[in-house]
Amino acid sequence: MTVTDEPRVVTAPGDTAWARQAVRLRAVRVGDAEELTALCLGNREYLRPWEPVREASYFTVEGQRANVHDLVRAHAAGEMWPGVILEDGEIAGRITLNNILRGPLQSCFVGYWVAQDRAGRGVATEAVRQALDLAFGELGLHRVEAFTRVDNDRSQRVLARNGFTAVGVARRHIHVDGRWHDERLFERLAPWDDGYALHPPAQGEYSQGVCRSR
Ligand SMILES: CC(C)(COP(=O)(O)OP(=O)(O)OC[C@H]1O[C@@H](n2cnc3c(N)ncnc32)[C@H](O)[C@@H]1OP(=O)(O)O)[C@@H](O)C(=O)NCCC(=O)NCCS
Repeated sequence: MTVTDEPRVVTAPGDTAWARQAVRLRAVRVGDAEELTALCLGNREYLRPWEPVREASYFTVEGQRANVHDLVRAHAAGEMWPGVILEDGEIAGRITLNNILRGPLQSCFVGYWVAQDRAGRGVATEAVRQALDLAFGELGLHRVEAFTRVDNDRSQRVLARNGFTAVGVARRHIHVDGRWHDERLFERLAPWDDGYALHPPAQGEYSQGVCRSR
């Protein structure tokens, strides 16, 4: 699934080599396993402080294929939206709308990472913006939440630039990199929230993060 037909161009002022890089999202596919393996291997140390402990098999094509199979199944069941972040058609990272809850909650969590050699140029900020469009539009969700380690300033700035606000700190919330870490919870409500509506306005009234009825 493609989130945006027209990729958003991210420009890095003063750096022509990196200027005009196009970012878009799509759902992960089993055929991505080889590219994902290379990316995960290349960023193993970079991601270690932020990611759960991974089995050695995670860094093999077979392991990635099995992992993506599970994600595709969970996607089909409506439990999550597992995406890849593409920059100029190449996989630059992962972004996932996790733990989709329906009924009276209509919420999910967003998680993401961007390869080290593509960081610092707005890729994650743009990917989260597009994921929010998907969550609040096509998926009809009302709330997106995110946890970040309290010392992950960069990720917190990505969330802040996308209109998330901090709710509070959950103590000893995640075990990564050999110990428990406190995490800050962030929330972002749908632009169509009016305190009453359970679902977004009828199709056509909401697009690209703009609620036309407002
Ligand atoms: C956190 C993470 C996703 C950020 O990805 P990113 O693509 O570098 O994020 P962005 O580029 O959108 O924002 C980061 C920086 O780029 C800058 N930036 C944003 N848009 C920009 C643009 N158009 N041009 C140039 N720089 C830009 C931001 O100002 C920001 O600068 P900072 O260093 O002052 O924070 C990435 O560092 C990562 O994957 N880290 C490891 C895993 C992780 O922490 N995941 C999140 C767990 S909650």
